[in-house]
Amino acid sequence: MSLLDVRNLEVVYQLRKGLLKAVDNVSFTIEKGEYFGIVGESGSGKSTLARAILRLLPKNGKIANGQIILNGKDITQWSDRQLSTVRWREMSFIPQSAMNALDPVARIGDQILESIQAHENITKEEGYRRAGELFKMVGLDPNRLRDYPHQFSGGMRQRVLIAMSLSLNPDLIVADEPTTALDVIVKDQILDRIDRIQKQLQKSLLLVTHDISVVAENCDKTIVMYGGKIVEYAATGPLLRQAYHPYTLGLKNAFPRLRGPIQELISIPGSPPDLMNAPSGCRFHTRCPFAQERCIEEEPIITEVEPGHYSACHFPELAPEFRERAADGQLWKQARITKNRELQVRKPSV
Ligand SMILES: Nc1ncnc2c1ncn2[C@@H]1O[C@H](COP(=O)(O)OP(=O)(O)OP(=O)(O)O)[C@@H](O)[C@H]1O
Ligand code: SF4
Ligand SMILES: [Mg+2]
Repeated sequence: MSLLDVRNLEVVYQLRKGLLKAVDNVSFTIEKGEYFGIVGESGSGKSTLARAILRLLPKNGKIANGQIILNGKDITQWSDRQLSTVRWREMSFIPQSAMNALDPVARIGDQILESIQAHENITKEEGYRRAGELFKMVGLDPNRLRDYPHQFSGGMRQRVLIAMSLSLNPDLIVADEPTTALDVIVKDQILDRIDRIQKQLQKSLLLVTHDISVVAENCDKTIVMYGGKIVEYAATGPLLRQAYHPYTLGLKNAFPRLRGPIQELISIPGSPPDLMNAPSGCRFHTRCPFAQERCIEEEPIITEVEPGHYSACHFPELAPEFRERAADGQLWKQARITKNRELQVRKPSV
């Protein structure tokens, strides 16, 4: 039994102009102890997916289809009262901004204590002792438990949130861009810390990020999302070394490698699709340098291209050529659509 089993999940938002499908037929599993990444540009549906799993969607969002199975329990339609039995204990959350998540007028120690006491009947002394252990684990001095949030730096506050997420020893921790508000050095320290804790405690971690170099450094498996759909899904090593989907190749070009030689950064031209008016066929066809006639008309189905490696592109057999040609910045610059939204179709060069 997988720790988390997401099946054919669809999430919609009710807008004045109609329904927006932000997560479209998404399926994947997370095993115990796995470090899992979700990557994609802004608006690809990463946070919506994470929040749907946590069952923390905003009021206008709802799960329209599919199932979320946590530790064998189908929590898709659970009420808040039912969810309180699994929140923090079986799955917890590291949010993006510590400033919004912490109460500015309460001591940090009391806030951690409160989150533990909401689920467990323990004394203040025992709660503070446990909070002290969590502080050590995230690299904070337990003597600072009596301080207030404003006495901590941004990076330290983010460590507090990591400590809180661990306070009831959950099996799965979901972190949505946990380092966005931090500078590069602090960001690396926090990701390192999360990585160490995950390995030490054998927790499952679902990390949402727009930065493919972050998943490269940290995650065992990665999902690449585009326009609310999974376009590629595999173990992170093969996904990055042997990408099958042109969008994954584009994302790889657009971020600097954390290690290795300096490379030219090539951005993907254009912008992510408007989900109220998504492109026909393959949603990436308006930006894909390898698009052909078929891509405009027919939607690719996600298929297993190698054992455990899934991609949603019509041309898996052309992947070696795509990989070779994707490093050419000129190719991406040419991948533009004309004003009447018709693609300048190129024939494959095989
Ligand atoms: N509360 C909401 N109401 C209506 N639409 C929303 C809401 N939240 C998100 N959306 C829309 O759903 C789509 C997916 O958004 P989501 O925030 O999940 O993307 P994301 O991948 O997390 O992006 P980012 O990297 O910017 O955080 C977008 O089109 C977005 O505009
Ligand atoms: S299906 Fe076509 S448009 Fe979509 S990624 Fe593959 S080649 Fe590009
Ligand atoms: Mg987001």
